Amino acid sequence: MAKTGPQPQPGILDISPYIPGESSAPGGVKPIKLSSNETPLGPSPKAVAAFKAEAEHLDRYPDGAATVLRGAIGRLYGLDPARIVCGSGSDELINLIAHAYIGPGDEAVYSEHGFLMYKIATLASGGTPVPVPERKYTADVDAILARVGPKTRVVFLANPNNPTGTYLAHGEVRRLHQGLPAGTLLVLDAAYSEYVRRNDYEAGLELVATTENTVMTRTFSKIYGLAALRLGWAYCPAGVADVLNRTRGPFNVNAPAIAAGVAALEDRAHVEYAAAHNEKWLPWVTAEIGKLGLEVTPSVGNFVLIHFASPKAAIAADEFLKARGIILRRVAAYGLPNCLRMTIGTEDDNRQVVAALASFLGRS
Ligand SMILES: Cc1ncc(COP(=O)(O)O)c(C=O)c1O
Repeated sequence: MAKTGPQPQPGILDISPYIPGESSAPGGVKPIKLSSNETPLGPSPKAVAAFKAEAEHLDRYPDGAATVLRGAIGRLYGLDPARIVCGSGSDELINLIAHAYIGPGDEAVYSEHGFLMYKIATLASGGTPVPVPERKYTADVDAILARVGPKTRVVFLANPNNPTGTYLAHGEVRRLHQGLPAGTLLVLDAAYSEYVRRNDYEAGLELVATTENTVMTRTFSKIYGLAALRLGWAYCPAGVADVLNRTRGPFNVNAPAIAAGVAALEDRAHVEYAAAHNEKWLPWVTAEIGKLGLEVTPSVGNFVLIHFASPKAAIAADEFLKARGIILRRVAAYGLPNCLRMTIGTEDDNRQVVAALASFLGRS
């Protein structure tokens, strides 16, 4: 960039822009898109109907407080709606938190292969990102605590983490929180929590309810199938909710998103259907790819991390699959150049990926 003219704040030009999952395949074939951890089952038809009904009212501003949505979330989880803040995707909430709590000279800590937005939001706020090594592709509480210091304003933890699919049991998350100074905010990003089927897992509600420095973020983009609408929410201590409400845009969540979000939340049968689908196909995909001789990191989300022998092999596999209309996600930007991430798809998608990987490896 030229040295004359307007210059951005320090840190901004250190950001590598987030590259979303690809969505088209060569030759114009309809791709099997398994690159963005979207649900293969679509949203609740009730959410789609609620979205369409809002088309009649596009001349009106939305309710800037998203009152009905916060009420519905509060009823479902037994939460105080006053402590819920909605956002245009949980990405916006991550950014709002970073802008409000991180500035030049401050540090934000996250695990080595943690979700990329933590680094981006920290740099965009002028802060210093501090990635901490993981153990077996899993956040390491001791390593994180060892790296937390007086400059640490925020610790971000995706639980489960994207792109590894690993999680920390509630006891570990508690231990992490207990080791943090009162002035450090723990952000528990529970974007994939609805998929987790583990007795020792807790998304973060309990810690937010009982501490003053924990926030939990959630999204409608994953199991609810509303990624296009950009809708997320955070459950916060009252003081943090107050801060986010001061800094967010006054109408940061649009009316169709609010209406669809309420309908999606209330259609528990659809959520169960999506969770059951994942519960069936996540182990199948893990086992079948494992049988091909590729290591798959055990995942509790709706995606798996597949390991190849080298970065070259991962790229070759990606190209091979793409030529057959199958789009996975490269994750070199996450420090995982040997790997590809695959979202769990429909039965047919999953079978096609396994068959294509088998032919890539010369197994068929
Ligand atoms: C861990 C994690 N957090 C947050 C998000 C952002 O989701 P949203 O669509 O709500 O912005 C994602 C999306 O990939 C994610 O993987």
